[in-house]
Amino acid sequence: SAAEKGGYDYFMLKEIAEQPKAVADTLLGRIDANGSLSLDEIRIPVSVLREVDKVVIVACGTAYHAGMIAKYAIEHWTRIPCETELASEFRYRDPILDSRTLVVAISQSGETMDTLMALRHAREQGAKVLAICNTNGSTIPRESDAVLYTHAGPEVAVASTKAFLTQLVACYLVALYLGQVRGTKWGDEIQAVIRELSEIGTQVDEVLETMEPVRELARSLAEKNTVLFLGRHVGFPVALEGALKLKELAYMHAEGFAAGELKHGPIALIEDDLPVVVVVPSPRGRSVLHDKIVSNIQEIRARGARTIVIAERGDTAVAPYADHLIEIPATPTLLQPLVATVPLQVFACELATARGNEVDQPRNLAKSVTVE
Ligand code: G6P
Repeated sequence: SAAEKGGYDYFMLKEIAEQPKAVADTLLGRIDANGSLSLDEIRIPVSVLREVDKVVIVACGTAYHAGMIAKYAIEHWTRIPCETELASEFRYRDPILDSRTLVVAISQSGETMDTLMALRHAREQGAKVLAICNTNGSTIPRESDAVLYTHAGPEVAVASTKAFLTQLVACYLVALYLGQVRGTKWGDEIQAVIRELSEIGTQVDEVLETMEPVRELARSLAEKNTVLFLGRHVGFPVALEGALKLKELAYMHAEGFAAGELKHGPIALIEDDLPVVVVVPSPRGRSVLHDKIVSNIQEIRARGARTIVIAERGDTAVAPYADHLIEIPATPTLLQPLVATVPLQVFACELATARGNEVDQPRNLAKSVTVE
């Protein structure tokens, strides 16, 4: 009913709007007065976490994209090797696991069969399993050694939005916490990022307030057949997520690529007026990344692409190459997916609407896939 949707036309719109609160709720009570993380709720003893020598993340769909981003954060802040794998691929390749492996299973519903089978396999091999889950008491957390709940609240729309942002928050918390308990050379940076993370809800809110041009752009592309998405570093999984949203909702051919792979194939797809969304890392910090992506944008534009550029506000170096510029607030590099994903959700939702599709219940999809 309209009341359930809080006055929005679709649950998806309501859930997109709820993201600042979902993010804040997921942080609530997890940062103490000194700005350190207090995550005793992760019932794996600190002594065990200190001995972990490998992290393996398993998930499906949108949760898998959260896991891909987590890999960058975990390896950077903890120096523990981390791999992220599709749950449906994981157990069939006889992965190497033992008691010093921490497996992180990410699932909104807590009922995805492939993810459940992956975690069962991991536990049989003696690995410790930490679930990141949005649904209290569901199967995946019940069968794991520990759980960190996301507090997104119930997500109804099939295409995941607020659950994704809270999965990212939970992944950052796990990465920072592992860094904190193990003590790395990034101690100061970890403290600073925890402070920035606690402000991130406000920045997501800022993004939401500036989405009208994105909706307008989406409507103008309703007749297109293909949209490509490019990113580097954590912008790469964001590009994959942008493409997945467009497939799920707009039933359009959408593909995400690592921008560095352009010349190894995807650039052959570029033709006149093809919309290409590019996620641009901050010009501060790792500026090498930024320079590389600016030249990627020049390359595709020279071949006729219509460039839709998501960049940090005030990024004057990239602005001249953007046919459409979508500005997002400045964040630390690793946290950028929390703000960069939001315009892509809005974009896909509006395109679906413009194409007359059912936003909350896309054809052929289920909210939770409980078969293998
Ligand atoms: C389905 C949903 C996706 C979701 C995926 C994983 O395919 O349509 O939105 O990302 O399952 O679901 P989970 O509940 O495990 O996060």
